[in-house]
Amino acid sequence: MSLPRTLMAVKGVDHDYPGGVEALSGVDFTITHGRNLALLGPNGAGKSTLLMHLNGLLRPRRGAILLDGKPVSYRRSFLREWRSRVGFVFQNPDEQIFAATVADEIAYGPANLGLNAGEIAQRVETVMNQLDLHALSHRPPHMLSLGQKKRVAIAGVVAMNPELLILDEPTAGLDHKGVTKLLAILSDIKALGKTVVLSTHDVDLAYGWADDAALFSQGAVIAQGEAETVLTDGEQMAAAGLPMPVAWAVMNALGVDDRVTIPRNREQLMVCCSRLKDRDAL
Ligand SMILES: Nc1ncnc2c1ncn2[C@@H]1O[C@H](COP(=O)(O)OP(=O)(O)O)[C@@H](O)[C@H]1O
Ligand SMILES: [Mg+2]
Repeated sequence: MSLPRTLMAVKGVDHDYPGGVEALSGVDFTITHGRNLALLGPNGAGKSTLLMHLNGLLRPRRGAILLDGKPVSYRRSFLREWRSRVGFVFQNPDEQIFAATVADEIAYGPANLGLNAGEIAQRVETVMNQLDLHALSHRPPHMLSLGQKKRVAIAGVVAMNPELLILDEPTAGLDHKGVTKLLAILSDIKALGKTVVLSTHDVDLAYGWADDAALFSQGAVIAQGEAETVLTDGEQMAAAGLPMPVAWAVMNALGVDDRVTIPRNREQLMVCCSRLKDRDAL
C-alpha cells in the first residue's frame, strides 16, 4: 500500500468577515488523499467559512493553504487550475444552479474547462448515469425538489472531474431516502479514487461514513484524526458541543467494550443488538 498523501493542508488560518466577526482563528486542518473526511461542529462554528477557503472562494487574513504541499496563489490562472482540481458544492443548491435545464447546468463546468462539444456531451452523459439524472435532463432545475436540486448541484461539480470534492452540509434538509441516495453517490465517487470532504452536525452520519473526522468549535479545529477515535472521545465531543454517536453510545451503555464489535451505523447496530440478545438468551 502506498503512503497516505496530504492533498491539502490549512495552517494557522484566520478569517474575519466585514463588521469584525472573527469566523476562523488559527485553524489547522489536513485532507488526506482518498479518505472520506467529515468536518463536524455546531451551527456558527465556522465550517462553511473554512470549506470556502479550500478552493479559493475566500482568502485568509493570516495563515497558509497548501495544495500538494505548496502554498496556493490567488492569481487568475492558479485559481482556474485549483478550482478544476477542487470542486465545491454549496449547502443551498439555489446559490449554485442557474442554467435553464439540468443538462445545461451539468454541461456548464466542462464547457468552462474548454473541452470540445463531444467531450462535453460525454461528461454530461457519464454524470447523468452516475447521479441518476437522465429522467430530469430537460427539466428546469429550479422546479425540482431539494433532493433533486442537490443531485444536480453535485453533478455540475462532478462533471468537472475534480480530484477533491467538498460538500457543505450535503444532507441538510434531505429525507432518509435522499440521504441514502447521496451516500451511495459519494461512495461511487470515492470508488473512482476521489477524495470527499463534507461538513455536517450529524454525528451519526459522520460515524457511519467518515474515515477521518475533524471537530470544529468556535472558529478552530479542536481535534482531527481517524473518525473512530475522534468521534468516540467524550471530552472532545463535549467541547465541540456534539453528542456521542448513537451506535457507540448504545454499545457503551450495554457495557460492550470490545471495540471490534462497535457498530458504525444503524444496520450494524441492529446486527450487534440481536447477537447480544441471542448471547444473553444462552
Ligand atoms: N457573510 C458573512 N458576514 C458576516 N459574518 C458571517 C458571514 N458568514 C458567516 N458569518 C459568521 O461567521 C461565523 C461562522 O459561520 P459559518 O462558517 O457559516 O459557520 P457554520 O458553517 O459552522 O455554521 C458565524 O459567527 C457567522 O455568523
Ligand atoms: Mg455552514
